[in-house]
Amino acid sequence: MIGMVLAAAAVAALSGGQGGPQPGPANHCVSCHERLAATTAGGHSFLDWRQSPHGQGGVTCEKCHGGDPAQADQQAAHRGVYSSREARSAVYYTNIPATCGACHTRELGFFKQSRHYAQLETSGRGPNCVTCHGSMATHVLAPNEMEQTCSACHNAQRGPSPTAPIAARYLLELMHQVDFSIAVTRQLADKSGRAARRAAVPYLDRARGSMQLARQSWHSFDLAEVETMLMRTAAASGQADSALGGGKR
Ligand code: HEC
Ligand code: HEC
Ligand code: HEC
Ligand code: HEC
Ligand code: HEC
Repeated sequence: MIGMVLAAAAVAALSGGQGGPQPGPANHCVSCHERLAATTAGGHSFLDWRQSPHGQGGVTCEKCHGGDPAQADQQAAHRGVYSSREARSAVYYTNIPATCGACHTRELGFFKQSRHYAQLETSGRGPNCVTCHGSMATHVLAPNEMEQTCSACHNAQRGPSPTAPIAARYLLELMHQVDFSIAVTRQLADKSGRAARRAAVPYLDRARGSMQLARQSWHSFDLAEVETMLMRTAAASGQADSALGGGKR
């Protein structure tokens, strides 16, 4: 009960006008659900949505659930909205990649190349976007959580690929390290003289582009390929550091 009161207060504070971009005035999904008590049934709460990159980025309910946000009446608004347990729902687990992929086209493109996608299509098994991101993408799994999630299906008792979880954990740690090295090199460049900065910028740009691609191609689950990309990214970041005179520091 206290939790519900606190959640309601937080919603009120967040919708007080200062928070992220406000959804359009006519979105009745948001304005009606905002007033409902927090649901306890699975999925996510209103507050989860509000605080997520989607809530902050103006991705309103109907973008994932369907329905008509221009209707103030519950029944009219809900036309096309179904429980995630129904196969016709846009958020039924086998429909989730297409729903999310309508906006995240690159991630979907890579995911379609994976065995996981094929499994999802044929047997309905295997992870979908929500397995790793949660329905609100409030977070991406941390490396140790990643290992646990993968182990539910990839373990010594049940194949395939019992080593995939530890490999995934290692790759994710590596991804974060390379990300960090790019960020630090960029800060160094900002504080360096003009000539050194100029020499470093092309490598930094290359590193950033390559990092972005590695992050997206991760969704193909071709772990060896992702590792190659990360090594290439790290090399570009190292070249940027050398151009800044890293060796002399
Ligand atoms: C006038 C109020 C109102 C509006 C407008 C409204 N909803 Fe709802 N919605 C509710 C209520 C109340 C429930 C609780 C379940 C019930 O009683 O049907 C609910 C339930 C839901 C559920 C859970 C469905 C289930 O079967 O578990 C989803 C998803 C949902 N709404 C999404 C939306 C979306 C998307 C929109 C806009 C297109 C929207 N709602 C507009 C009041 C509203
Ligand atoms: C980025 C996509 C996305 C957005 C935006 C989104 N949802 Fe959801 N929602 C989902 C997914 C996916 C599920 C299925 C449960 C799960 O896997 O966590 C879900 C589940 C739910 C549920 C539980 C009932 C069920 O069918 O499982 C409700 C209620 C709900 N959402 C309401 C809303 C409301 C209200 C909004 C807007 C304030 C909203 N959602 C915005 C993706 C989204
Ligand atoms: C209508 C378009 C749209 C849909 C549908 C959508 N997203 Fe997003 N997504 C966005 C926007 C906009 C952002 C925030 C801006 C950004 O960081 O790119 C975002 C951000 C993200 C992020 C990055 C979060 C971060 O911290 O950088 C992830 C992960 C994500 N979405 C996953 C999903 C998943 C999973 C689904 C389906 C359940 C989904 N998205 C559905 C538009 C969408
Ligand atoms: C097995 C786990 C897993 C699955 C399944 C998964 N992702 Fe991801 N996703 C990740 C990881 C890990 C990252 C990178 C996180 C980081 O940068 O720290 C990521 C990053 C992202 C990003 C941010 C990319 C960027 O450029 O910053 C988006 C958007 C995204 N995923 C969307 C999706 C969508 C859409 C699906 C379903 C088609 C999906 N993901 C399925 C694990 C997953
Ligand atoms: C819900 C169960 C499930 C989860 C969770 C899961 N996988 Fe899988 N994965 C499968 C299945 C089933 C296959 C087998 C597909 C096949 O044999 O065609 C597979 C195949 C793979 C393959 C390809 C193996 C090969 O022989 O080419 C890799 C790599 C992989 N998974 C990595 C991961 C990683 C990394 C994670 C965690 C982020 C993960 N999986 C989470 C079910 C799962």
